Amino acid sequence: MSDGSSFYITTPIFYVNDVPHIGHAYTEVAADVLARWHRQAGDPTWFLTGTDEHGQKILRTATANGVTPKEWADRLVATAWQPLLKTIEISNDDFIRTTDERHETNVQLFLQRLFDAGYIYTGDYEGFYCVGCEEYKQPGDLVDGTGQYEGVQVCAIHSKPVELLQERNYFFRMSDFTQPLLDLYESNPGFIQPESVRNEIVAFVKRGLTDLSISRQSFDWGIKVPWDDTHVVYVWFDALLNYITAAGYGSDDARFAELWPATHIVGKDIARFHAVIWPAMLMAAGLDVPKQVFGHGWLLVGGEKMSKSKLTGIAPNQITDTFGSDAFRYYFMSAINFGQDGSFSWEDLSARYQAELANGFGNLASRVVAMLIRYFDGRVPDAVTLAEADENLRALEHRVVAEADAAIERLAIHEAIGAVWQLVDELNGYITAQEPWKLAKNPDDRPRLEAVLATAVHGVGTLAVLLSPVIPEATAKLWSALGGVGEIGEVPIRAAFDWQGSGTVTALEPLFPRVETIEGAA
Ligand code: MSP
Repeated sequence: MSDGSSFYITTPIFYVNDVPHIGHAYTEVAADVLARWHRQAGDPTWFLTGTDEHGQKILRTATANGVTPKEWADRLVATAWQPLLKTIEISNDDFIRTTDERHETNVQLFLQRLFDAGYIYTGDYEGFYCVGCEEYKQPGDLVDGTGQYEGVQVCAIHSKPVELLQERNYFFRMSDFTQPLLDLYESNPGFIQPESVRNEIVAFVKRGLTDLSISRQSFDWGIKVPWDDTHVVYVWFDALLNYITAAGYGSDDARFAELWPATHIVGKDIARFHAVIWPAMLMAAGLDVPKQVFGHGWLLVGGEKMSKSKLTGIAPNQITDTFGSDAFRYYFMSAINFGQDGSFSWEDLSARYQAELANGFGNLASRVVAMLIRYFDGRVPDAVTLAEADENLRALEHRVVAEADAAIERLAIHEAIGAVWQLVDELNGYITAQEPWKLAKNPDDRPRLEAVLATAVHGVGTLAVLLSPVIPEATAKLWSALGGVGEIGEVPIRAAFDWQGSGTVTALEPLFPRVETIEGAA
């Protein structure tokens, strides 16, 4: 995207019933890498994340802990969800909480507009509800329980029994949008990504949509329905609106017009809410649908979706305390094809840390800087005559920038990293083949040594710029050792090749030190 339009990217807003695990952090990092890339490319970028604080699930957790739901949410946001962003270096521009005034007021405004337009009516709801999912379930969504739930039907995601609901509720005429949604999916094939998620959703909508119950009467932890304060708004209807209330809907029309529509990064389990209910709500309100909904895969532990409720949750700082935030970010973005499920293992993390970050990239950077210090007192020489190998490397630098940018455009983060890594591998091979330490021994080879190290350090600088969205900490350290001009996060990424240095390098500590003990490893 280099057309000057805004790049507005969101994560789902996270339930505050519990603390984050690495599955939540995975969504955050993916959105963050995309946001950093676009920001560094000079695209006007806005990155939103936040927390989902209403509904029965939070209410029950708070009650079980003897505090009000607002107290509970405040505590979890302050002690767990905000600190997560620091732990994994998230560069969000805004953090919305569904208990913010700016959100609550404009959810009511949105709902009132839909009511006035005739999209809402009263009806009786009878059916099953999963509090874990905060979702109404169809009988086809349930599976036979096992263990303590043998003989009962349970939610396929939470493996826990659902609850029978019988309430008088307000309904949204979602069924009116079956055809408009199918038209949207057809006219804009990239609207839902990846293909597997898209196919599942198209098939679901083709079966025909039913109207959606959008209020609850049996508890009061939620936003009041504006024309009837005996009801609170259904938590998903409330939550989805965060993407527009944070962007100025109802409060700042100019800002909203500039930012909206957004690219939504979500887990595949909640893609249906984002690609069916959400665009239907927006269509009913006469607003643009999102730019794109990308449903990423799950982190699996023992072949199952990792989750706290199944006691397979791993806290992000279990990893970052040992390996650092860059390794966390790099590992999950490169080892898993974005859009597919991936299994986490300590052994794989540790092996890739050593092979790819420490030996592949970190060592390359250290060697090049150390040789410039040893042979040229830290001065970056000019390359007067370039050999074919040098020209090839420079051509590769150009190529990987274009390839990585195109991959980011497709949201294929792992492919973008793969494209950049060709340069890591080529540079390592180049140094092995050119043997600068041998050239340094013979004064006649001085011009060749200059060309080799000038070419190598140029490549390393380009790598720093290109990898900055993925491993911001290490690349900032490297940038400073290279004498890079300005903040690395502001060096135009699509012109990474043109990076500027002061002409002098300074000593570089190992970027990825050896990790002796692997905490949590089996
Ligand atoms: N509050 C809703 C989202 C509302 S958005 C308008 C919600 N919250 S959540 O906290 O349960 O999940 C947030 C995100 O974390 C989802 O995208 C979900 O897919 C993701 N993940 C939760 N467990 C995960 C894995 N094991 N692996 C990858 N992502 C996972 O849903």
